[in-house]
Amino acid sequence: MSNDWFESIAVAQERAKKRLPASVYGAIMGGTDAGISRADNVDAFGELGIRPLTAGQPPERDMSVTVMGQPSSMPVLISPTGVQAVHPDGEVAVARASAARGVPMGLSSFGSKPIEEVAAANPQTFFQIYWAGDRDSMVARCERAKAAGAVGLILTLDWSFVHSRDWGSPAIPDSMGLKTMITHAPEVLRRPGYLMSWLRTFQLPTLGVPNFAVDDGPVPGFFEAYGTWMGTRPPTWEDVAWLAEAWGGPFMVKGIYRADEARRARDAGATAISVSTHGGNNLDTVPAAIRVLPEIAEAVGDDIEVVLDSGIRRGSDVVKAVALGAKAVMIGRAYLFGLAVNGQAGVENVLDVMRMGIDSTMLGLGKSSLAELGPEDLIIPDGFSPPRLDSPIG
Ligand SMILES: Cc1cc2nc3c(=O)[nH]c(=O)nc-3n(C[C@H](O)[C@H](O)[C@H](O)COP(=O)(O)O)c2cc1C
Repeated sequence: MSNDWFESIAVAQERAKKRLPASVYGAIMGGTDAGISRADNVDAFGELGIRPLTAGQPPERDMSVTVMGQPSSMPVLISPTGVQAVHPDGEVAVARASAARGVPMGLSSFGSKPIEEVAAANPQTFFQIYWAGDRDSMVARCERAKAAGAVGLILTLDWSFVHSRDWGSPAIPDSMGLKTMITHAPEVLRRPGYLMSWLRTFQLPTLGVPNFAVDDGPVPGFFEAYGTWMGTRPPTWEDVAWLAEAWGGPFMVKGIYRADEARRARDAGATAISVSTHGGNNLDTVPAAIRVLPEIAEAVGDDIEVVLDSGIRRGSDVVKAVALGAKAVMIGRAYLFGLAVNGQAGVENVLDVMRMGIDSTMLGLGKSSLAELGPEDLIIPDGFSPPRLDSPIG
């Protein structure tokens, strides 16, 4: 094992902070306004206690699961993120690592690598899109993803274009011209490891959005793609049903926070939902996703697969989410930290840390399979979840 190995996501985060230029680390950390939701996503898992056994645990544990038709070696999937500039190998390194660990991956339509390269590296790739542009362009992006081998579609809906952060947002350049290089030179020069990783590739971050391009058109810059998205009318549930049908395969609605909307996603034809706060990057002061998971899981039962993302930093978090009704979780920042510090090996390291943590927690709880987990394995403080929604919208 090399010295680059880390034993926890917290250690990876600390190293990522030291390795990345401040603006790139700031873009990963994100969080809107005061960052209350971002922090609560993590803190809420700490509020949940665990009730362990002392003897008589089963000797073996099976943590495999199938989500959106894809078998996964553990209930952890890669959540789609736009990872421009974190590492030269970007999502291709993430795809190789997740494939090596038998884990499906979501690729963002704002990611830095084309779907063709990513799906070739991990055949279990789901393509993620936002409701952006007209229907024809969305269908064209979906068709391209399907032709590249994407095995599912993730439609992410929880984004409200909040652009304020109390600590100030890092400047995101649109392209890597001379002016940008001069502006960012001081902070990059202070990060020699990061600089070398790019110099070795003889390239600079392109900052283009390759999966936004349609019909062999040019690759748009970040702000062009973002502008298209901002200018698109938000979808209705009928629009969601239309896209699910147009895709015609496993379909996840990511960003569900209310039980009534979970049912609407189901009725629109979704295979799965992800209960999420977008990692605290959407509206601030929204309580952690894990707090509303039990209500949502109860509302949809087995009709639809329930996934949770936001705040997962260790294997015990995964077990807690499964105990409260999730079939699996998706991780975001955790693997970005690993990618930043050690590329593909760093993402593999993150997945190994998750697997060991899940295994230890299942052992301690005396579980041989995920199906045996339930809320009775946890100590849930009073007031952990917000009052349930009494007046559903549909
Ligand atoms: C830097 C960054 C970029 C992201 N980009 C996307 C994206 O392009 N599409 C998407 O559906 N979610 C995106 N997300 C949200 C993640 O998929 C996921 O919901 C979130 O990171 C989960 O929270 P966690 O980081 O605490 O694990 C992004 C998150 C981060 C941190």
